Amino acid sequence: MTAGVDLGQPQAQAIRSDEDVVRVRQLVRTVSVAVKLSLVDQTKIVTAASELARNTLVYGGGGTVEVATVDNGRRRGVRIVFDDSGPGIADLDLALTDGYTTGGGLGLGLSGARRLVDEFDIQTAPGEGTRITVTKWSR
Ligand SMILES: Nc1ncnc2c1ncn2[C@@H]1O[C@H](COP(=O)(O)OP(=O)(O)OP(=O)(O)O)[C@@H](O)[C@H]1O
Ligand SMILES: [Mg+2]
Repeated sequence: MTAGVDLGQPQAQAIRSDEDVVRVRQLVRTVSVAVKLSLVDQTKIVTAASELARNTLVYGGGGTVEVATVDNGRRRGVRIVFDDSGPGIADLDLALTDGYTTGGGLGLGLSGARRLVDEFDIQTAPGEGTRITVTKWSR
């Protein structure tokens, strides 16, 4: 499914279904292998991406993801941007607290994802959707 992916170009994809979440996992795995992340780091970024893609679907009402390779001159990495036009997050500190959920989940997706990546950024406001950018670097 990810065969023939051009890693020189950012890969954009819609997140509208469970199948799309699976595709995000596969794409992130492929790009992580290409930039030579360790097996452990591959699993960390795939797990983080899976949680964030699921949140985009469930809370954001669907959205988009863009997966790109990055290079800072010393290391390569994978950068992933999740974007939705959903309700946004009113209290970000609360949303990032382990165990906080408004959807009957475990409340560990967002906080867990943050711990699994090297860089984590959220742009969100009530009524303005949510954009989350994560990066994992090779080491
Ligand atoms: N894209 C989003 N748009 C709006 N609200 C969000 C978004 N992502 C997360 N949230 C809010 O943050 C809360 C915490 O998210 P988190 O992923 O940690 O937990 P969860 O999805 O409820 O449960 P889990 O991921 O453990 O199954 C969510 O319950 C929801 O209220
Ligand atoms: Mg979640």
